[in-house]
Amino acid sequence: MKILFAPLQGYTTGIYRKAHAEIFGGVDAYYAPFLRIENGKPREKDLRDLEVSNPQHSNPEKPACAITVPQIIANSASEFKILADAILQKGFTEIDFNMGCPFPMQVSRHRGAGLLNDTRTVQEIMDEIARLSTAGTARFSVKMRLGQDSPDEAFALLPILNDAPLTQITLHPRLGRQQYKGALDIPSFEKFYNECRHPLIYNGDITSVGQIRKIESGYPKLAGIMIGRGLLARPSLAAEYKAATDANAVSENELLSKILKMHGKLYEHARSTYQGDSQFLSHIKSFWDYLEPSLPKKVFKKIQKAGKLSEYDAAIQSLIMEQADE
Ligand SMILES: Cc1cc2nc3c(=O)[nH]c(=O)nc-3n(C[C@H](O)[C@H](O)[C@H](O)COP(=O)(O)O)c2cc1C
Repeated sequence: MKILFAPLQGYTTGIYRKAHAEIFGGVDAYYAPFLRIENGKPREKDLRDLEVSNPQHSNPEKPACAITVPQIIANSASEFKILADAILQKGFTEIDFNMGCPFPMQVSRHRGAGLLNDTRTVQEIMDEIARLSTAGTARFSVKMRLGQDSPDEAFALLPILNDAPLTQITLHPRLGRQQYKGALDIPSFEKFYNECRHPLIYNGDITSVGQIRKIESGYPKLAGIMIGRGLLARPSLAAEYKAATDANAVSENELLSKILKMHGKLYEHARSTYQGDSQFLSHIKSFWDYLEPSLPKKVFKKIQKAGKLSEYDAAIQSLIMEQADE
C-alpha cells in the first residue's frame, strides 16, 4: 500500500522533505504544507519552498526526492484558480486541495474545515477542477475531515466529490472543532469508505508498522495511508513498513545515526537561511519537537531547554556521543 507523508505546516519544509527522502525513504509522495493567498497573491515564501524538492529542478537521472504534491487552501473558486495557476506555472502537475485545516484563522475565513458545510462553494471549486483537468494540465486530489461540527457535512459533500474528476480523497476521521485530539470517528470513516467512489487514503494517529498492517487488512479497498506526526516521531516508519518485517527493522542506534544525519542537512540549510542565532534556533529546534520517542530523555530535554547556540550545539554533541557509545 502507498505511504504518503502528510503536510505539516512549519515541519515538513522543502529541505525536510528532501533530506527525509534521501536518508530514510519509504515514502511514495510528500504532500507539501498548504499554499495560501497573502495580500491578494500566492504567498511567495511557500512558492519558493516548493522548489527545494521540485523534481523539475533536479537531475532527472537522479531525482532528489520522491514525488512532491503541492497543496492549496482556498475559500472560493477564484482563490483556488490563482493558487492552482501559480503552482502549475512551476511545472507541477498534481495538486491537493485542503478541506480539513482546523486552524481558527483559516476556518473563520471559510477555508480548510471551514468550507465543509458549504456545498455550493465546494461545487464551484470542483467545477474549476473539472475545467483544469479537461485541459489535461493537472490532476487534483482532496484532503478533508468529516466536518467542522458534524460528520453530516462530509456526507452532504460526497455526491459532489464522487462526481468530480479527483485522483483520490484523503480522509482524517475527526471534526475540525476537535483539532488533532480526541476520538477518531471510525464508524463514519467506514461509511465514507463504503460510499466513496474515488481511491481513498486513511489519515490519523498512525505511529507503528502494526497499525499500518491492521488498517491494510481491515480495509482492503484502501489506496494508501497518509502519516504525519508518526513519521515526524519515527522517520524510519515508512521504510520499516516497506521492508515487510513485523518488528522495527531499524535498530535504535541506526535510527539515531540517521536522525543526526538528517539534522546535519537541516542545520546547514538553516544556518545559511536565517540571520541571527535566535531566529536560527527557533527554526532548527522545531526539528526535534516530535522526536521525543526516538531520543534519550535527558538529551531531548537538553535540546528543548537550549536558549543559546552554544547550549544547543552542546546538546547535539551529547547526542552524537550517546550514539557513538552504543
Ligand atoms: C503542526 C501541524 C501542521 C499541519 N499542517 C497541515 C497542512 O499544511 N495541510 C494539511 O492538509 N494538513 C496539515 N496538518 C494535518 C496533518 O497533515 C494530518 O492530517 C494530521 O496531523 C493527522 O495525521 P497524523 O495523526 O498522522 O499526524 C497539520 C497538522 C499539524 C499537527
